[in-house]
Amino acid sequence: MKKNNSREDQKNLVSSAIDAVKSTGFSKKQAAATVISFVISAALFLSGKNSEPNIFFGRSAQFLLFFIFFIFFAGRRFAGMLGRRRTEPEVVLLSILSACYFIAVFFVRNTKMFDGYMPVSIILPTALVVMLVSISIDARLGMIIALILPLGAFLSGCINAQSYIVAIASGASSALLLRRARRRMDMVKAGVVIGVVNVISAASVLLIQNCPFQFYLYILFWAAVNGVASGMLVLGFLPVIENALHLATTFRLIELLDTGTPVLRRLESSAPGTYSHSMMVANLAEAACNEIGGNALLARVGAYYHDIGKIDHPEYFVENQKLYNKHNELNPRLSATIIRSHVKLGIEKGRAMGLPNDVISIIAEHHGNSLIKWFYSAALKKEGNVNMEDFCYPGNPPRSRESAVVMLADVTEAATRTLEKPTVARLEKFIGDLFSDKYATGQLSESALTFRDMETIKSSFVRVLVGFYHSRIEYPKVSKIDTPPASPSSPPPASDQ
Ligand SMILES: [Fe+2]
Ligand SMILES: [Fe+2]
Repeated sequence: MKKNNSREDQKNLVSSAIDAVKSTGFSKKQAAATVISFVISAALFLSGKNSEPNIFFGRSAQFLLFFIFFIFFAGRRFAGMLGRRRTEPEVVLLSILSACYFIAVFFVRNTKMFDGYMPVSIILPTALVVMLVSISIDARLGMIIALILPLGAFLSGCINAQSYIVAIASGASSALLLRRARRRMDMVKAGVVIGVVNVISAASVLLIQNCPFQFYLYILFWAAVNGVASGMLVLGFLPVIENALHLATTFRLIELLDTGTPVLRRLESSAPGTYSHSMMVANLAEAACNEIGGNALLARVGAYYHDIGKIDHPEYFVENQKLYNKHNELNPRLSATIIRSHVKLGIEKGRAMGLPNDVISIIAEHHGNSLIKWFYSAALKKEGNVNMEDFCYPGNPPRSRESAVVMLADVTEAATRTLEKPTVARLEKFIGDLFSDKYATGQLSESALTFRDMETIKSSFVRVLVGFYHSRIEYPKVSKIDTPPASPSSPPPASDQ
């Protein structure tokens, strides 16, 4: 009975710990991963000789401060201040890597090699963990982790101040070197440079400690091995992490830039209009993201794949229609259902081909929950009273800047194709109106785009369109959503608006 009660108490303790971590903006899975890291690092902090109560309480207080600090840097709310919110797989990865690091610290804490002259951090995977975080999530978080994880090891008393310096040098150089890594081989090269940094920092520590000369060669050799081996291990671990967590690393995105993938080739052959629309959206989104400091590579790849849900029924989308509009023979309600379904089909195709989660989010959010005005107007005329929700896209408004830029590029490309004899002033006014409509209908409210960003995006779109533009038929703008168009039998105005 007593045993059952204590088990219940333990369960309650764990679930209230998960609830407490969830309140900082974590999901249940993230909170669970964080609590596991908490338990492991608590064991690490309290694993030393804590017989004296003052040492025990001092250590405990240091640990709590450290862990709260860690949670707020790694957590979703604070991460918004660092550029963007962390996704669930990213926080889980961060927790697992941190836990692995602390387990390694736990095992090497009493190691005394070469008469205690060797800094213990030379055999810690600081560079490996920081490299994985920098590539899988981003280099800014990699830099923070490079400072925080060795700090945890130092505060727990498992490594001394000299070892702490070597670990920070190793971690910080890993984050810096991988900032601009574009090819997988860059990781091996970075590993060699990290090895050199390790050798320099370890040599400085040995000099300060008056280390006997005969130990230098061995210790510096292991310092170099740590860097080189980290680069090679990252090369092996990364594809596993990319596939398991569907992360949009630079390397994965560069692979997806290849327009020869089966799905893009199918898009080109079965829906040539959608294909050329997607390429143009990619040009617009990439240029704009470059200017607002967003992830231009993610925006380009997201634009390539945003309309893959149209592959199976391309003839229902105006950009693929030549003479006949299939919607002429359909009820507006059925037409809207077909148009809406390309988002869901796109998500399914993206998942089936293992696209990164960030790219799938762009597919899911590229129309937000906006209204398909043309068919809503047509249904209003035909039925008199219709539910607006039946004519809205089923997605969420974009939650990242890249996703919002693709949405704006999509609507801009589709609408400006119909603009006759465009001038720079007409384009600016026209795009400004499209942006205002998206803003007014709440489609940009969760994306963290500022008004200044929107002005920059507009100028960037105008510049790109002036270079690529070719005029087509006039765009029949629906000024009032509750005013049906004169003839619903005409083709819808834009690709799928
Ligand atoms: Fe679309
Ligand atoms: Fe589109």
